[in-house]
This record gives sequence, structure tokens and C-alpha cells, in this order.
Amino acid sequence: MTKTDFPPIIAAKKAAGKAAAELIEDGMLVGLGTGSTASFFIEALGLRCQSGLKISAVATSQQSMRQAQKLGIPIQNSDSITFLDLTVDGADEIDHHKNMIKGGGGALLREKLLATGSREMIVIIDETKLVDQLGVFPVPVEIATFAYRSTLARLEEKGYQGVLRLNRDTSLFITDNGNYIVDIQFNKPILDPASEHERLKVLPGVLETGLFFNIAGRVVIGYEDEFVKIQT
Ligand code: 5RP
Repeated sequence: MTKTDFPPIIAAKKAAGKAAAELIEDGMLVGLGTGSTASFFIEALGLRCQSGLKISAVATSQQSMRQAQKLGIPIQNSDSITFLDLTVDGADEIDHHKNMIKGGGGALLREKLLATGSREMIVIIDETKLVDQLGVFPVPVEIATFAYRSTLARLEEKGYQGVLRLNRDTSLFITDNGNYIVDIQFNKPILDPASEHERLKVLPGVLETGLFFNIAGRVVIGYEDEFVKIQT
């Protein structure tokens, strides 16, 4: 396939995913992210495993787990792991301080668990994910299904404009953990992601937020011309 066969943004995501797969070493326990960029990473990692790379992996979603299994990447049960060497995952927005919004694919809870349980989280993005300040992409928040209307009311009381995430067929989106996602639109830049996270996290019913801070290590940025930059 030539690089003109798919849209430039896809070429950028693929370049980032492939470059990150080159950073994986024999013997590592690797967290597999979720989303289109992560899927390119898993594809490239699968090829490396087929050529003899010896690793094991834990996935942040059923979707990523299925893809990895099909490619022959050895998958470990999440119950059996404590720390991981690396987690490689995408982002919806990332600022200059490596604060991120994640959860566009609805896997934020597992993504945060594996990323914070890893010696390093490598973020893989196309260039459009780089922002000066977070806040244009809605912040995904995972909430319990039990009494969810009361959680929604509590969020509204605190001034948040949240929308329950739906599937294409308008049924409610349910995460791999059996919860709902509320996408919260901040109509202003998120200047202090840690405090915004804390304000949300204390509300009963809120299980996790898609605000990630002090987590990202290297950032692998793919560009439309397939150039890749690794920020340390
Ligand atoms: C999934 C995520 C993804 O990493 C994020 O949405 C970026 O996805 P993509 O690589 O498809 O742009 O957080 O929950």
C-alpha cells in the first residue's frame, strides 16, 4: 500500500503506532491502549511478535485484547499482574505539560489503571492531538449505572454540562466495566486538570475521569508526511 491510499491523518497515526512498537523490548510486560492509533501500535507489535519478539501484554479494552489475540500477542489476565514495564496508548488532547484528555474510546478507567501501574506510559498521537490548553474535546467521565440520574443531577448542580454517551443506534454506551460515560463539555480552557479531576472524582457515582496528569512519559507524535518525533 502506498501512502496515498489512506487519508493523511491515518498515515500520521500509523507512523506513531509503528514507531512505538519499535520501542518494545524482549521480556517486557506491555499495556495495550485503545483507539485507532493504539490499534496501529498493536498491529505493528503483532508483526514483531510473529518475528520472534518475546513479550506479554495486558489490554485496556476487550477490543484491543481481541485484536492482540488474533495477532498472536500473548495476553495476560489483568488479575495476575501488579506492575507493567510500559503502557502504550493514544490521547484525545495533550498539552505542553503532558496533561491529557483520554477516553474517547470509552476505556479511560482501564487505561488509567494500566498507565499508572506502568514504569512508563508512552503516548502515541497524530499531530492534531497537540493543544496549548485542554478543553475543546469533552472530558469523558465514567459513572456507575446505579442511580445514574442522581449522579447526572449532582454533576449538573456543580455546573457541569454533561451528555450521556450513546451508541450509534442511540442505545446507552456501556463500558467494558459495565458503567456509563458522561462526556462533559468545558466551555473554557482547563487550566488546572488536577483540581478539575478532584472536583469531579469526589462526587458519589463518579468512578474515574478522563483527565490524565503526571502520567505520560515519552510522546510519539506522527505527522501526515509519516515523519515521527519522540518527545522525552
Ligand atoms: C480510548 C482513548 C484513545 O486513546 C483516544 O480516544 C484516542 O483515540 P484515537 O487514537 O482513535 O484518536 O482514550 O479510550
